Amino acid sequence: MTLELPPTLQARLDALPAGLRAHVGRVREIARELGKAHGVDADLSELTAAAHDVARHIPGPRLIEEAERFGVGVSAVERYAPVLLHGPVGAAWLDADGAIDDRDVIEGVRWHTTAHADLAPVGQVVFLADKLDPHKAAMYPFQESVREAAFRSLPDGILAFLDGALRLHIERGELVHPTSTDTRNALLLAAAC
Ligand SMILES: [Fe+2]
Ligand SMILES: [Fe+2]
Repeated sequence: MTLELPPTLQARLDALPAGLRAHVGRVREIARELGKAHGVDADLSELTAAAHDVARHIPGPRLIEEAERFGVGVSAVERYAPVLLHGPVGAAWLDADGAIDDRDVIEGVRWHTTAHADLAPVGQVVFLADKLDPHKAAMYPFQESVREAAFRSLPDGILAFLDGALRLHIERGELVHPTSTDTRNALLLAAAC
């Protein structure tokens, strides 16, 4: 990877646990590749990928504290599963650092866990690149179908992932984040028009 990152972001990455840093490195490579396949700026894709998990190692209670400190609304689902806040908290940190002024990058970080109907292409690329990390193949047994769909079309890839993930959550009796459901509905409506 040759992209030079803002020093504040590089410092945040250097402070991550090794396993998480390795994941971020793989996601950076996949994001460049997937971005290029769809004509999305490879450097912006990699920058968003580099930034996406800056808050992933933070324990749940502190994620809630950080969300409240930055005025991020915490829903009942997020209070139950605070890991869902690591995107919004990471985005708030990056905003506060002031080193990244591209809104599509910040919003891509914010919504990389749930997806969002309004994600710009760079955010769509990173949402998918994160899920396509080969180390997540066991977590997402439907990963290969997501990969095929993602290289065909970014919305198709997101829909394939959300379909698979929502099925898993429902089978396991787990909560579903409403933003993921809203995103899936928006993608289906867009495809139907
Ligand atoms: Fe994440
Ligand atoms: Fe990630």
